[in-house]
Amino acid sequence: EKGTYPYYMLKEIDEQPTVMRRIIQEYTDAIGDTMIDEKIVKKIIASDRIYVVACGTSYNAGWVGKALLEKMTNIPVEVHLSSEFGYNMPLLSEKPFFIFLSQSGETADSRQVLVQLNELGLPSLTLTNVAGSTLSREADYTLLLHAGPEIAVASTKAYTAQIAVLAVLAKAVGDSKKNQSSLKFDLAHELSVIAAVMETIIDEKMSISQLVEEYLSTTRNAFYIGRGVDYFVSMEASLKLKEISYIQAEGFAAGELKHGTIALIEEGTPVLGVITDRKTAAHTRGNLKEVESRGAHNFVISLGSLSKETDQLIIPDVHPLLTPLVSIIPTQLIAYFATLQRGYDVDKPRNLAKSVTVE
Ligand code: M6R
Repeated sequence: EKGTYPYYMLKEIDEQPTVMRRIIQEYTDAIGDTMIDEKIVKKIIASDRIYVVACGTSYNAGWVGKALLEKMTNIPVEVHLSSEFGYNMPLLSEKPFFIFLSQSGETADSRQVLVQLNELGLPSLTLTNVAGSTLSREADYTLLLHAGPEIAVASTKAYTAQIAVLAVLAKAVGDSKKNQSSLKFDLAHELSVIAAVMETIIDEKMSISQLVEEYLSTTRNAFYIGRGVDYFVSMEASLKLKEISYIQAEGFAAGELKHGTIALIEEGTPVLGVITDRKTAAHTRGNLKEVESRGAHNFVISLGSLSKETDQLIIPDVHPLLTPLVSIIPTQLIAYFATLQRGYDVDKPRNLAKSVTVE
């Protein structure tokens, strides 16, 4: 039930700190060690490459998961769209391991890939929010997201839950391999910090609503830009914006702008820059300057330690590997308020279904 909330999406955005704490509880013990089925960990350690297969928001979460998995496990990770992978399967490594990401566990595009893999006898794990769902039953292993029912078509808490559970999985494998970067990573503590930071951002929602009025209430298009994980967040942020507010929004790798996209910038085009990565912050700021000089209306979301006073939204610092869990929150609220202000139904956007059961 949505209780006093006007829309499920807002309720589900608000629930994310609780979901983070639930994941800590379900997947870590009192001293912060991970609790993941040993059989899954062993299978992954025995593999030479991880293939993440998913659609939509789950696919976008997969890219953040890749960064985490590679850092903690030293196993290369590829991320694929189910609808492409099934019909254009890449050359597989000798010992592949497959991770399906699916909130509903019913997505047909993902299922057709799993059916093919099962015929080949290849090992698979599904991360899903729905126990007993098709992708859960048909994969070898399942990890539940514990996000609680997600009703709004626009996925929010499933995205952050997928990233958090992938972080737990990455640490479980990394610890088992005695990788230093993994052993040093106090994930349970970092996730509890994340939960608190999510709360502070959610508390700022009315100022986000005002910024949306200023930047997005009448625009036809908008761009999110970032590098590395900030690019992955830009992809998800723009999917959220387009699917419910119908603003033509695209997420771009900031460095690619000058290779074509910058031609689209006109007087007043909103460009939302995501800056949470120290290595690339200066470069993304350079790209923002380039678009500004061509008329863009820049909106910067930055991490405290990398922020400038003129930035529109500043997020408290969190562990560098987990920044997408917090930088995504304002972008979910941006999509929510843009949709409200334009007068559309937040929970039920046109042409879309919550779970996509046709290929
Ligand atoms: O249930 P799934 O995670 O497999 O769904 C995948 C996509 O259909 C889904 O994430 C879709 O992109 C959402 N509407 C995004 O908000």
